Amino acid sequence: MKVLGIESSCDETGVAIYDSEQGLLSHTLYSQISLHAEYGGVVPELASRDHVRKTIPLINEALNQANLTRTDIDAIAYTAGPGLVGALLVGAGIGRSLAWSLGVPAVAIHHMEGHLLAPMLEEPAPQFPFIALLVSGGHTQLVEVRGVGDYHLLGDTLDDAAGEAFDKTAKMLGLPYPGGPELAKLAESGDPTRFKFTRPMTDRPGLDFSFSGLKTFALNTLQREQKLNQGSDSQLKADISRAFEDAVVDTLVIKCRRAIRDTDTKRLVLAGGVSANQHLRKQINKMMAKEGGEAFYPRAEFCTDNGAMIAYAGWLRLKTGEQSALKFHATPRWPLDELQAI
Ligand code: KG4
Ligand code: ZN
Repeated sequence: MKVLGIESSCDETGVAIYDSEQGLLSHTLYSQISLHAEYGGVVPELASRDHVRKTIPLINEALNQANLTRTDIDAIAYTAGPGLVGALLVGAGIGRSLAWSLGVPAVAIHHMEGHLLAPMLEEPAPQFPFIALLVSGGHTQLVEVRGVGDYHLLGDTLDDAAGEAFDKTAKMLGLPYPGGPELAKLAESGDPTRFKFTRPMTDRPGLDFSFSGLKTFALNTLQREQKLNQGSDSQLKADISRAFEDAVVDTLVIKCRRAIRDTDTKRLVLAGGVSANQHLRKQINKMMAKEGGEAFYPRAEFCTDNGAMIAYAGWLRLKTGEQSALKFHATPRWPLDELQAI
């Protein structure tokens, strides 16, 4: 079965074709980063309009790359939520109507399920059950995954998502949007001993997160040190970046260790944009080796939003006979544990 996947939940248009026999045949991506950069964040209306411009050309490109035509497609998977409603409606509208015109089934996919299953596109793929840490611009969740759609939420953020905290702190330091990868780059030249930020909510039981305080801590540190006017401003920003990144990474590692111990699971999956962070991967690998377990990640380009994860999640659902009705919906808020297990 050849599944065309369409992702348009935020600021990336992604299209991919997954074949149940041969694996991933092609994937194309258009990032709107430069479009939103001058506003310092995603402008929803601009995002929707750009998805309108890019989705069909990207579908054609994905078909060309795979040497296929539209009639070779057996099914279509599209992201139906969570995300920006206008942006979601573009991918869902195009996906659902293309499926109808071709007379093939379509399935609505949960964006975070796509992220969560993305490491299964790699070799070796993680086996169920596993613990997933979903860390993106909109989510920070620890999920116990027993099978496709069988998700038990263990922990969530009470305020900012990890990626959001990276982006806001980066913006405050004057770094361009999206700040996460920029802050991580700057942190490489930072002195890890100059500042020590707290590891929020690690001093109490439970698996929830809170990252908004770190952003304020970073701002206060910046203002205080700038007033003292000691050393270079660029070194100060690098040192703050390093302290911030260390605090987020440590916090995530502590909670992941707690989750795998609590559930006695030896496999940990990381997914979502922040899972591209090299420092996080290194510390998670170290911790999992000590625990006698293994960590799994998507390849770097599939950590952030992409069509491949949607095509793949779509296939896992379509092969069980699942399909969505002709009347399609975009669901901007959609709790992951409301999904049907298959
Ligand atoms: O999964 P994603 O592409 O979109 C959402 O579904 O949110 O994640 C984007 C988020 C952004 O906040 C971005 O700054 C962050 O992932 N990110 C990173 C890194 N690469 C992307 N954060 C820290 N370090 C990175 N290397
Ligand atoms: Zn995402």
